[in-house]
Amino acid sequence: MKNEVYIHKKKFEVFIKDNEIANIVEEIANKLNKTKIKNPLFIAILNGSFLFAADIIRKINILNSEISFIKLSSYLGTNSTGKVQKLLGINGSISGRNIIILEDIIDTGTTLEKIMNLLQKENVASIKVATLLFKPDAYKKDIKINFIGKSIPNDFVVGYGLDYDEIGRNLPHIYKLKT
Ligand code: IMP
Ligand code: MG
Repeated sequence: MKNEVYIHKKKFEVFIKDNEIANIVEEIANKLNKTKIKNPLFIAILNGSFLFAADIIRKINILNSEISFIKLSSYLGTNSTGKVQKLLGINGSISGRNIIILEDIIDTGTTLEKIMNLLQKENVASIKVATLLFKPDAYKKDIKINFIGKSIPNDFVVGYGLDYDEIGRNLPHIYKLKT
């Protein structure tokens, strides 16, 4: 295992190893399974949550679980721009559905707020939010995050789906920017 990686000439050090990630994912799945939400529609936010979504969905044993993927992005470089693009990937009606959002990381909450607003316009029955990582010190919104894998300090992280200018998503561990 590499303890350090360089991405765009910045140094990152290992922060959450793959086996710890697997444990965190399993804990969230167990909590979700206990809720017994009826016919849930998991909506994973691309690109960052593709690995989280792939791993957690295999641990979900709720009857008639469905999964779909939507896309927006708010990040350019290592600072949140505050700008968010529109939602892509909802085909057909999701009216009346019980939605469980799957996010890789919630930072300021800008992306989450945008997604919630767009989903609410679709007259969904309920929305719950599950995120692998959460940065409480950066979070600026009042939206309740129902399932948090791990709260982390305000460090920039990459790996396990998370990128730094599109690089690093393939890393099996999560690394943080060395400051
Ligand atoms: P927010 O809108 O500020 O909450 O940021 C959410 C999005 O920004 C996430 O879905 C990620 O794509 C990206 N992001 C936030 N923090 C990080 C980080 O530390 N590393 C990589 N991407 C991040
Ligand atoms: Mg991203």
